Amino acid sequence: SGYVTLDIGYKNTGATKSAITFLDGEVGILKYRGYPIEQLAEKSTFTEVAYLLIYGELPTAEQLKDFELEISRHTLVHEDMKKFFDGFPSGSHPMGQLSSLIGALAAFNPASLKPGLSAEEVNLEIIKLIAKMSTIVSWIYKKSLGHPVIYPQNRFDYVTNFMHMTFGQRTEEITIEPVVVDAMNKLLILHADHEQNCSTSTVRIVGSSDANLYASISAGISALWGPLHGGANQAVIEMLQQIKEDGGDVDKWVAKAKDKNDPFRLMGFGHRVYKNFDPRAKIIKKACDDILEKLGINDETLEIAKKLEEVALSDPYFVERKLYPNVDFYSGIIYTALGFPTEMFTVLFALGRLPGWIAQWKEMKANKEPIGRPRQIYVGAVDRDYTDIKSR
Ligand code: CMC
Repeated sequence: SGYVTLDIGYKNTGATKSAITFLDGEVGILKYRGYPIEQLAEKSTFTEVAYLLIYGELPTAEQLKDFELEISRHTLVHEDMKKFFDGFPSGSHPMGQLSSLIGALAAFNPASLKPGLSAEEVNLEIIKLIAKMSTIVSWIYKKSLGHPVIYPQNRFDYVTNFMHMTFGQRTEEITIEPVVVDAMNKLLILHADHEQNCSTSTVRIVGSSDANLYASISAGISALWGPLHGGANQAVIEMLQQIKEDGGDVDKWVAKAKDKNDPFRLMGFGHRVYKNFDPRAKIIKKACDDILEKLGINDETLEIAKKLEEVALSDPYFVERKLYPNVDFYSGIIYTALGFPTEMFTVLFALGRLPGWIAQWKEMKANKEPIGRPRQIYVGAVDRDYTDIKSR
């Protein structure tokens, strides 16, 4: 009934008007609230960018201090949340744990489920979510090692606190080097928003049913998990390691990616919107060189990645299809240098994307958008009469 436009995968369909992130894929421009990603990655911090995305303006020094203080007041998670970890079998994927735990936060925050929350009440849930997410992510890592969790220490800034909970020990004070904190800030900023991608659209559409913030974000985390989306950062490192073990024959793997009878794709290559280059990949590639040099690490996978990029970018298959390295291509090499295991990469992407998801959820509410409900063109059987099971 009625006229339906078909656009499978929403390649050309705008779902909303948004004032958060501007992206021009033809020329490779990305801006948050009008500020170029290059400037933010260079000069800002993750909490400042989170403030910018969520509230629309760069904070004054006082606003930023208050925001960070508010976050630090909510970093503790309910002790009973820790029991969840005992229920996950060892080796459970961190993304499966993260989506469950963030969903569970709604159940632990019944106040967040009340209909008609005031703007202040909604803001409190936003602060709590940002605060608890970093604690939960680091606890997932600690549990994967079988180590005791480390409680948040509010004298640290957000990123230092996260790194301390992740790599710190109970018995001795460890120093998180400023170079490590800087790298982590940069990575989180670069992942903080990316307009209407798969996980963000998921967050908006789930939220459009008036589902609570935690449920909406938990759904976004599940969408991010897929290897065609955020899961690509894990897949890239696994691919680079495979190439390394295979003797480093990059040409062979490029040929494999071009072979239409082989499902293999070059992970970390290609993007739905960027058809020139991914500006985030440019920044990450440089950061990758800087960090490895500062930490004195010689990583063979970085050499393979660079060679792979060079070979692919001079191959007509990739040139014609406008396939360039995306944000996930080099990020994993930095995460490895910082000490994270591969399985944690997509969880780190989620930690970075959280302010973007929140800003988009908030905007969708402020716009009073109707429930998201795509249509379809029915192509199934038309008229059939029910036949008894015995006569089928
Ligand atoms: N390796 C080999 N061929 C590719 C690749 C690749 N990585 N990406 C696209 N192609 C080919 C594809 O086979 C198709 O060829 P043909 O026209 O001959 O059928 C053509 O390029 C267009 O691909 P598409 O799948 O129609 O493009 P899309 O816009 O639907 O998909 C994508 C975009 C990112 C899912 C895809 O490029 C891909 O699978 N890349 C690898 C996974 C990846 O790195 N994902 C991370 C994306 S960026 C961060 C994020 O979203 O989390």
